[in-house]
Amino acid sequence: METINNKLFLGSVSAEALIEKFGSPLYVYEEDKIIEQYNKLKDAIVYPKKKLYYAAKANTNIEILKLLNNEGSCIDAVSPEEIYLSKKAGFSSEKILFTGNNTSKEDFKYCIENDILVNIGSLDQIEQYGKLNPNSKISIRINPDVGAGHHDHCITGGPNSKFGIYFNKIDEIKQMVKKYNLMIVGIHEHIGSGILDTSKFLLAMDVLLKTAKEFDNLEFVDFGGGIGVPYHPKEKQLDIAEFGKSISDKFNDFCRDYGKELYLCLEPGRYIVAESGFLLAKVVNKKSTPNYVFAGINTGFNHLIRPAMYGSYHHILNASNMEDEEEKIVVAGNVCESGDVFTQGENGIEERSLPKIKIDDILAIMQAGAYGFSMASNYNSRRLPAEVLVKQGESRIIRKRQKFEDLI
Ligand code: LLP
Repeated sequence: METINNKLFLGSVSAEALIEKFGSPLYVYEEDKIIEQYNKLKDAIVYPKKKLYYAAKANTNIEILKLLNNEGSCIDAVSPEEIYLSKKAGFSSEKILFTGNNTSKEDFKYCIENDILVNIGSLDQIEQYGKLNPNSKISIRINPDVGAGHHDHCITGGPNSKFGIYFNKIDEIKQMVKKYNLMIVGIHEHIGSGILDTSKFLLAMDVLLKTAKEFDNLEFVDFGGGIGVPYHPKEKQLDIAEFGKSISDKFNDFCRDYGKELYLCLEPGRYIVAESGFLLAKVVNKKSTPNYVFAGINTGFNHLIRPAMYGSYHHILNASNMEDEEEKIVVAGNVCESGDVFTQGENGIEERSLPKIKIDDILAIMQAGAYGFSMASNYNSRRLPAEVLVKQGESRIIRKRQKFEDLI
């Protein structure tokens, strides 16, 4: 991303030219940024036996999956649909781990037919899986009694969470796997999403590693995803080198005690794709009320739900006028609900300072590569936007804009 002559360029293509070519609204991803993030994290983990399972739910565009397959990534899938897409993108079955929750027998059967290792987070579900596929290998998801994340909805550890088997249920787990002659080859946790302070992540690691010592046949320990990226200009990037070293050191110590070098696995989603993505939209309206000046754009929470759903801050740029004098403004979407506002902060709707906005300007909503398109819907029956990958002055469409007929 760069500014040239007051205009925003993504992958060395101007945002305005992209809208001209592909229409608006439009999701745009910088290919090089995705590759850079993947390798930054991989290189930060100095422990040699490591695997990154890209959490496909962050962005399942098949072309993005293919890029990550080329880099050597594995896949964290949460649905048969994500398994299907990953296989279509070229991932072999042994590179996919299925971490469902409240998984149906049909979903388990899909995994069994496709030779996918399942990661199970409930005793009851181990029993159901054991009946369907006795004498097989499984992984288990532990709730380490520690949770973290950017919003309550995204905290997946601790007593309020529906995920994982509580870490103190070791005897029950052992009995259950014995009953169906299952072999536990992996142990897993994922404490939440959007973590920029790693202390809880490291604490949860200790709990999981202590639990792991109770199981003799492990091949891997998977500490889940959750690594955050800054959304607000005030937030800082996590020191990924330091984080990688801390987890590697802990894991080295564990392996020495365990007597075997296991695989260290992580499941990053947001960290890989969030910053590569921009949602571009056109300004179609400007108006004022006694409280605010509004800029209305031709997309809404149907296309990017994070601000409306979590109150998430997403930085916004005026791609058509990057450096002009600033005005205070609220950026609102075109969905018929008052909560459809993109400028949200901790206390709900808030004004931002943006370089002067006029009708037909293109606004760029940043950090939209993760949980953007993948959480989009057809609410208000609006069509889903197109997606485009940009790289070194080239752009290619990776998902066509929906047509009216697709709505039927
Ligand atoms: N592994 C498991 C088992 C997960 O449930 C998740 C995310 C991840 C890995 C990847 O987490 P990440 O590295 O992306 O933080 N829609 C929310 C995020 C929900 C995350 C759900 N699970 C948002 O937009 O913030």
